[in-house]
Amino acid sequence: MTEEFASRVSITSKSGLNAIYPSHDPEMISFTGGFPDASLFPTKELGDSFQNVISGKQTPFQYQIGEESEPLRNQISQLLAADGTQVDASKIMVTQGAQQGLDLVAKLLINKGDGLVVEGPTYIGALAAFDAYEPTYYTVGMEEDGMNLVDLKKILIQQHVKLIYTIPDFQNPTGTVMSLAKRKQLVELANRYDVLLLEDAPYRWLRYEGESLPTLKSLDTQDRVIQLGSFSKILAPALRLGWLTAGNDLFERLQELKGGSDLETSSLMIQTVDYYLTHYDLNEHLGKLQKSYQVKRNAMMNAMERYLPDFAHYTKPQGGFFTWLTVPEDLDLEKVQNNQLKPSFHVMMIPSTNLFPDKTHRNGARISFSNVTLSQIDLGIQRLSNGLSSGYQKRSV
Ligand SMILES: Cc1ncc(COP(=O)(O)O)c(C=O)c1O
Repeated sequence: MTEEFASRVSITSKSGLNAIYPSHDPEMISFTGGFPDASLFPTKELGDSFQNVISGKQTPFQYQIGEESEPLRNQISQLLAADGTQVDASKIMVTQGAQQGLDLVAKLLINKGDGLVVEGPTYIGALAAFDAYEPTYYTVGMEEDGMNLVDLKKILIQQHVKLIYTIPDFQNPTGTVMSLAKRKQLVELANRYDVLLLEDAPYRWLRYEGESLPTLKSLDTQDRVIQLGSFSKILAPALRLGWLTAGNDLFERLQELKGGSDLETSSLMIQTVDYYLTHYDLNEHLGKLQKSYQVKRNAMMNAMERYLPDFAHYTKPQGGFFTWLTVPEDLDLEKVQNNQLKPSFHVMMIPSTNLFPDKTHRNGARISFSNVTLSQIDLGIQRLSNGLSSGYQKRSV
């Protein structure tokens, strides 16, 4: 049989998303995936929550269409309110991870060729989701305090843009936080140029130092911000639970699209997380995560300062899972990784190539510190430094 795949397949299969999954080399130290530290999962508490849901009066194994999520939506609404974002529970949709939110929003808004602004670099999985809808991408560079709004404004003046995708808190992959001034300006620009904003915030509650800044959603007065959240990084990714909030019209359409995509999010998971949030203290758990990831972040910063060659620069994240490495433009980190780092130095990261829509950016890489031990951080950065130095010498060969 001749297989005639839709045109989107050839685009999405080039996303490079498989690069975030673990390597089979037993010696490998991998700084690739944005995986949480498995030793920090609240395993006992989640197990207890599952047990209680399963042995409850009503079976959790039936379809629950429309009925299942209200208690959890109320809980999410309270968590958001405690963080300064007021959203009515009726405008919260429980999704299968934030990833489903990315897909649904693109499905809702993007026809082939429609203008979509992304940060450069951005989350690889967002590009994988968006690619399927064949947008025209406009990439806005990242600065220490978030995306370059001067460049964004030029794009908004010259092009028709439907949606701006941003990760304001501990951006994936750079680890940077958008400043308050930029948050305000971005919402103003969206108002002025009549564009929707997609705020993706899965790392927001993993801050290790400094003051939390208001969400774009909380600064929005025109229902322009669709916000995504997730339990993946703060409880466990295998729950596949996240949430989406949006204004009236968008929300209803998104709900219809979600039905066509999966009928409903697993009510077993929804009830379990609702039980967990009712009976355990999420803030206490977040406190543990913050302390533990802060130690890893510090170890990463110390190792980078100690071992990295002078030509390498890196960001100093105040939260989240990532730091961003930049080397001189003539050093292609994908080549260095494939030819030297992986086979000879047994260390991996995510080179920048697939983190930009046009895939031409070569001299950056995302380094994740969340799912490695302190000794792996130290040894891995020594290996990386040796590999980079040898790659730097060989760059023109
Ligand atoms: C910025 C960003 N958005 C969304 C996701 C998807 O997360 P989830 O597991 O909630 O689908 C991730 C996961 O790494 C992410 O980093």
